[in-house]
Amino acid sequence: CKGVNGLEKVVLREVRGSSAEVYLYGGHVTSWKNDHGEELLFLSTKAIFKPPKAIRGGIPICFPQFGSHGNLEQHGFARNRLWSIDSDPPPFPTVSSNKAFIDLIFKPSEDDLKLWPHSYEFRLRITLGPGGDLMLTSRIRNTDGKPFSFTFAYHTYFSVSDISEVRVEGLETLDYLDNLKAKERFTEQGDAITFESEVDKIYLGTPSKIAILDHEKKRTFVLRKDGLPDAVVWNPWEKKAKSMADFGDDEYKHMLCVEAAAIEKPITLKPGEEWKGRLELSTVPSSYRSGQ
Ligand code: BG6
Repeated sequence: CKGVNGLEKVVLREVRGSSAEVYLYGGHVTSWKNDHGEELLFLSTKAIFKPPKAIRGGIPICFPQFGSHGNLEQHGFARNRLWSIDSDPPPFPTVSSNKAFIDLIFKPSEDDLKLWPHSYEFRLRITLGPGGDLMLTSRIRNTDGKPFSFTFAYHTYFSVSDISEVRVEGLETLDYLDNLKAKERFTEQGDAITFESEVDKIYLGTPSKIAILDHEKKRTFVLRKDGLPDAVVWNPWEKKAKSMADFGDDEYKHMLCVEAAAIEKPITLKPGEEWKGRLELSTVPSSYRSGQ
């Protein structure tokens, strides 16, 4: 159906009431609601649904470049291209019939090939599980005659009640690159990660499971990832928020990006090879502690 500005979107619904919305523009998930109809992803009220601007919020796909780690535009171009519905996807491992899913595909245009001279097929399956879990599986196949390398992220914006009350578990004691300090490498020292100022870090070689605890909402997001060793944690805080045209001045209080990513060691694909990167998001009540 039609979304903002007439852009095409697909709505996934699960029998118990959860739902997700996916824009073909960017192959971008803009909404994920639980079976009580509560929105779990942050989407800015100032988001601009107009090419070439990527949609501010939801789950932008960063490909073939994360951030400024290369010569392409920030976060690559997949997030501001029109994707298509893949009506004939190659076989996937079994999908049970009580799951709602959509298959999308992105292939470079002639203009894209001028920016990044590599041919590929990027298939993205977005699945809403029976319990309302949201799963994204990216499969990128090299259809070129030569190898290429890329970096990648699922730039997920989680909706949180109050950033000062949020804690991230699973990244303690890890090494990270600090984007606010010229990508210098540090080691995390303390307990679980909490927030009191701007943060923009790339945690390296993280566990496959990360938890975001929202005390006020009594909700914990659990993020599971596969093929994506790194995790970016980003909140622009007050000053940066004010400098972004498509982000409300106070919205930083109600969002946190935790991004499953492959950045430090770019993925290299030989001709004919395929890479798979998977993200699974779920929620549990806040009494939960990660590791249990
Ligand atoms: C994060 C980066 O992933 O995305 C930040 O680490 C960046 O450095 C942020 O500011 C938002 O990027 P953009 O291009 O969507 O404004």
